[in-house]
Amino acid sequence: MHAPVVVRNLRKIFYDEGRGEVKAVDSVSFECHEGEVFGLLGANGAGKTTTLRMLSTILTPTSGTATIMGHDVVSSAQGVRKNLGFYSATTALYPRLTTRETIDFFARINQYPADLVEQRVEYLIDRFGLAKYADARIEKLSSGMKQKVSVARTIAHNPSILIFDEPTVGLDVLNALDVQETISELRSEGKTIIFSTHIMSEAQRLCDRIAIIHGGHILACDTLSGLRDTTQQHYLEDIFVLYVKAGQETV
Ligand SMILES: Nc1ncnc2c1ncn2[C@@H]1O[C@H](COP(=O)(O)OP(=O)(O)O)[C@@H](O)[C@H]1O
Ligand SMILES: [Mg+2]
Repeated sequence: MHAPVVVRNLRKIFYDEGRGEVKAVDSVSFECHEGEVFGLLGANGAGKTTTLRMLSTILTPTSGTATIMGHDVVSSAQGVRKNLGFYSATTALYPRLTTRETIDFFARINQYPADLVEQRVEYLIDRFGLAKYADARIEKLSSGMKQKVSVARTIAHNPSILIFDEPTVGLDVLNALDVQETISELRSEGKTIIFSTHIMSEAQRLCDRIAIIHGGHILACDTLSGLRDTTQQHYLEDIFVLYVKAGQETV
């Protein structure tokens, strides 16, 4: 049996007019275990979104491989999409669709069995307390409600693997906690979750294992207690800085 997510030597090089060749992701390898929250912890520009976009088939890797539930992100993109939900704070919803239409649409395009879609949509409307807003257009909803629809949309097709790319960016404390709570619930339902953040406290609170990413490289990957043992530091912030500084010396 393969791990639910296997990433091997993944690289992405962009060509930027101003900067020339940008190695956004450089030889990234990791595996996620079933039912864990795997954290990608890194500052702005570290390569988190680029990595996660390659895993979700939005971007093609320059080289390297990745599989989601055994499906290769390049040769089996359909298989990947069926098994994966991708959430980011910047993912847009269609303003003119209603809540119900949105969830229905995303369940169908991600290959959820057609005869079960209706039941699934009603379940999600109920689960996220969206009944009152089920037939309201997205454009009429508050940001808190939109966020719930976005999460419902992400899991519409009940995928085994979920990616949350900096999901709490721009949210107030209560909404941010709400998203964290949802991620914990999804983990207890057995989902495998990749969660990216630049916020130390979130990584500490939520992640079973943490990969520290910087300059497109993974500098360390372990449980928090493993990272503490290796570095002899207690605070994740100190651990992070230690690795980033050591990484800069070796680049
Ligand atoms: N389409 C692109 N063209 C050129 N450079 C890009 C592009 N997308 C991302 N980058 C660069 O790749 C690096 C990693 O970006 P990103 O993956 O978005 O990091 P993060 O999500 O960790 O903030 C950054 O230097 C960023 O400027
Ligand atoms: Mg990003």
